[in-house]
Amino acid sequence: MKNRKGIILAGGSATRLYPITLAVSKQMLPVYDKPMIYYPLSALMMAGIREVLIISTPAHLPSFESLLGDGSRLGMRFEYKVQEKPIGLADAFRVGEEFIGEDNVALILGDNMIYGSRLQRLLQAANNLQEGGLIFGYKVADPTSYGVVEIDKNGTALSIEEKPEKPKSSLAVPGIYFYDNEVVEIAKKIQPSDRGELEITDVNKAYMEKGKLKVIPLGDGFAWFDTGTADRLSDASDFVKAIELRQGIQIACLEEIAYKQGWMKREDVEEAIKGYKKTEYGKHLKSVLDNEELDYHEIYEGELFDFSE
Ligand code: G1P
Repeated sequence: MKNRKGIILAGGSATRLYPITLAVSKQMLPVYDKPMIYYPLSALMMAGIREVLIISTPAHLPSFESLLGDGSRLGMRFEYKVQEKPIGLADAFRVGEEFIGEDNVALILGDNMIYGSRLQRLLQAANNLQEGGLIFGYKVADPTSYGVVEIDKNGTALSIEEKPEKPKSSLAVPGIYFYDNEVVEIAKKIQPSDRGELEITDVNKAYMEKGKLKVIPLGDGFAWFDTGTADRLSDASDFVKAIELRQGIQIACLEEIAYKQGWMKREDVEEAIKGYKKTEYGKHLKSVLDNEELDYHEIYEGELFDFSE
């Protein structure tokens, strides 16, 4: 099976969040109790992706490096690269060409957050895709500020448009994309759109036209947030807070995921816990090691609930 690398695009000038983002990167802002970038990073980790390139602006890249380092403490490998100008999402594959090499790749936007009980399974399945592209669809009340995909009842993409005034469906395309290695060549051929950007939607369109784009509609059991405006940022924070306090869990606890993936040893997690002192994050990590509590998701997702016989 081909290896897949991950890219987190954490660039842009986030003008819709001014003055918060005048001096701080949007993807560094807190979503309740963690820096925003933890959430997309955790999604790549859940998919099983261990090598990640973080792309940001010349001004902000150093802060991500100091937050996340070379990844070795998570049993991962991180690289960093500057995007000189925010010329669009498809530019990630140009900036990341060398990093991607011969491998397949997943791109996630640094301001996107997905949560759901079956998420890990879904991401792992997406990661197994060897050929073509795979995107998700999420029904939203107002899709006009997103990429919008129209599908038939077999899940085949019929059309895909960027920020349409008259959307053909209510399925917005979340900012997480799985591609084979061909994406590097496809991205090179993309021309700037009317708004002057190299659109990820044009990459998806290229896959669609070759009949190689899979679309997975996310059902009711998922929450997807992007954090582009102050309202949506605050909604995402409220959501994380509600789930974490109610269930006594941590969303996007990087060490927990790395430990469960077998990338971090118990001793390394114990060492990390010391650094988090008395935070809920640290306490949660300790309970992960102490309890080795049953993984309820595994039970729920297993065969236990087939009452048909
Ligand atoms: C970008 C993409 C859009 C996608 C969205 C998800 O929009 O262009 O297709 O639906 O991310 O967050 P932007 O954030 O650049 O407005």
